[in-house]
Amino acid sequence: MNKTISMEDKICMITGANSGIGKATVLGLAEIGAKIVMVCRNKERGETAQQEIIEKTGNKNVDLLICDLSSQEQIHKLVSEFKQKYQNLHVLINNAGIVLSKRQLSVDGIEMNFAVNYLAPFLLTNLLIDVLKNSAPSRIINVSSGVHKRASMDFDDLQGENKKYGAFKNYGVSKLTLTLFTYELSRRLEGTGVTVNAVHPGVVRSNLGRDQPTFSRAFQKVFFKTPKKGAATSIYLASSPEVEGITGKYFVSKEPKKSSDESYNEEYAKRLWEISTQMTNL
Ligand SMILES: NC(=O)c1ccc[n+]([C@@H]2O[C@H](COP(=O)([O-])OP(=O)(O)OC[C@H]3O[C@@H](n4cnc5c(N)ncnc54)[C@H](OP(=O)(O)O)[C@@H]3O)[C@@H](O)[C@H]2O)c1
Repeated sequence: MNKTISMEDKICMITGANSGIGKATVLGLAEIGAKIVMVCRNKERGETAQQEIIEKTGNKNVDLLICDLSSQEQIHKLVSEFKQKYQNLHVLINNAGIVLSKRQLSVDGIEMNFAVNYLAPFLLTNLLIDVLKNSAPSRIINVSSGVHKRASMDFDDLQGENKKYGAFKNYGVSKLTLTLFTYELSRRLEGTGVTVNAVHPGVVRSNLGRDQPTFSRAFQKVFFKTPKKGAATSIYLASSPEVEGITGKYFVSKEPKKSSDESYNEEYAKRLWEISTQMTNL
């Protein structure tokens, strides 16, 4: 962490902020003075993390808003609550994510990986875009995954409904759609002073795989990166002057890298945008 960077007066919203990479991202940004809005689905887990972050960093500007991102109604409520309390938003980090071994539906009837990992960032970002534009220069960071490279777009089966569902198959689809969305949004935001980039954090020790039968903390401890290392690229994109104005890129280890060929398909991105608009009633 570059201790010379200050985020004082910058308001940063981070989803999935009580665990793993999200919590480490909050810690890193709180350390350099940012005003944090943690978004968590569980009040108790959120408050525990919030207290720990305030104690560790001495930064008291760490707020907590509760939202289950699998519910579109709750996303609307989150945005109203945020807008009542804050005039600006300088950094939005769409970090929350899940991977589920069995196919589940959200309260809105949407396959859960797709709902939480992709459609929630789509809706949340669009509902906050006016505040982000008014706060420009501002930055959006979408936490994708290298697993998007194993997925391909099947518009007839985006939700693993008609063909076979697979945890990592459908997780991969959610991250490919998030990456397509990142690039499409960057084109739509040209000239606004709002940048948007995607991140692959690496393979990181966290709670992400807890639903998988093979989940092993001991294995993770030996082979996976720490959450602090996993958060480094998100923190870099949120705070570094080096990436001011950089948009529409996929970052790995603080470097722009090539994402999958399909993720650059502009036809797919436009079609996905239309479908997502319908699915969220935007
Ligand atoms: N770990 C890796 O190796 C890896 C690799 C590539 C990409 N990623 C991505 O990195 C991001 C962070 O994951 P992580 O590894 O840090 O996993 P994690 O420890 O499981 O953290 C995920 C966070 O998302 C929250 N979340 C899940 N469903 C939610 C919902 N419906 N509403 C609101 N919050 C929800 C979780 O809340 P609860 O604590 O309440 O469940 C938790 O705070 C994810 O997008 C993941 O896909 C991780």
